[in-house]
Amino acid sequence: MSYKILVLVSEAATFRLDNHSIIPSALHREGHEVYIGDIDTLCVHDSVVVCDRVKLTEEYLVGSDFPALSETYASAEEFDLVWVLAGTHPDALTDHFQLLWLLNRRVPFVNEASALFYMNSKTTLGAAVPNENLPASYVSNDFDFLTSLVESDSERTWVVKPTNDGIGADVYFLSKNERNRSALLQSATGNAAPRYGRYGRDIIGMAKRYTAVQEYIPNVRSNEKRVIIAGDVPVSGFRRFHPDHDDRANVTLGARFEALTLTPEEDDFVRRLGKRMMELGIFYSGIDLAYPYVMEFNLVNPGGLSYAYRATGVDRSSEAVNTVLAALRASGKLS
Ligand SMILES: Nc1ncnc2c1ncn2[C@@H]1O[C@H](COP(=O)(O)OP(=O)(O)O)[C@@H](O)[C@H]1O
Ligand SMILES: [Mg+2]
Repeated sequence: MSYKILVLVSEAATFRLDNHSIIPSALHREGHEVYIGDIDTLCVHDSVVVCDRVKLTEEYLVGSDFPALSETYASAEEFDLVWVLAGTHPDALTDHFQLLWLLNRRVPFVNEASALFYMNSKTTLGAAVPNENLPASYVSNDFDFLTSLVESDSERTWVVKPTNDGIGADVYFLSKNERNRSALLQSATGNAAPRYGRYGRDIIGMAKRYTAVQEYIPNVRSNEKRVIIAGDVPVSGFRRFHPDHDDRANVTLGARFEALTLTPEEDDFVRRLGKRMMELGIFYSGIDLAYPYVMEFNLVNPGGLSYAYRATGVDRSSEAVNTVLAALRASGKLS
């Protein structure tokens, strides 16, 4: 079965060995009619969702440029499937998600627009991940509450992270024994007290910000894995290793990575999680796992295929896209 598929990327100017080139190339190789579209050109013209796009005529080769997006404001609707591989500027988020949602009324998505909006966040992890697989988790904008939480037990270490960011940005580790804990919690919750004190609430407005707080997972350094789930199948991923000087193991920040192996328990867990994700409209994601705990998942552009390829020399991208399409078919989203 061959489909007409629109892959939405951003900054489609230069080839990179990442999802933006790997996934469209794999779809092309598997015989589909693939278009690349620039997500930041989504507009509505005469009631039709449009974008700048170009038809892929060959696989991308390392070092070559993406072709120019030659079709300006062409329909984004005349497709069997849309695969969103990029976000947008934070200031444009509301319009971005409304445009995607409108498009998704008309065309099935690999990850539904509503799931991209609601679920690509540290706030909503619990909608997919069973409680027993989450570290103790809080989402709060209340500095005093979080301070009492951290001070209630000097044995517990906490990880404070933005609800909606990524790649390790502003991920802080703290405990009652950490003298910097107040400054870190204050920063994470918007520095409300200092801002109100300095400017006045009337001038600065509401300053409180939400932050996600998770208990530190003790086995994280000995067993952190990124797993790419297509449908309910772990199709790719990698084992990663924390640098000595860092509690974060994001590979984009330089953490070392090796080939992924999953224990039978991990494999079984990931497949069960994948089924729950599919019920939520998510057919391709990357989860950060220190079994039995899930730290987060990534729905928009989860790194995995490229690092796995670099670690093993084996390209699993065809298998990944075929598995996604088979799962979408099995669930009735594709004919
Ligand atoms: N609860 C936790 N316990 C231990 N380490 C954690 C925890 N949460 C995050 N980390 C570490 O910090 C890294 C970044 O956090 P993560 O939740 O994945 O956010 P990001 O979206 O920034 O990647 C993780 O890859 C992991 O190494
Ligand atoms: Mg992560």
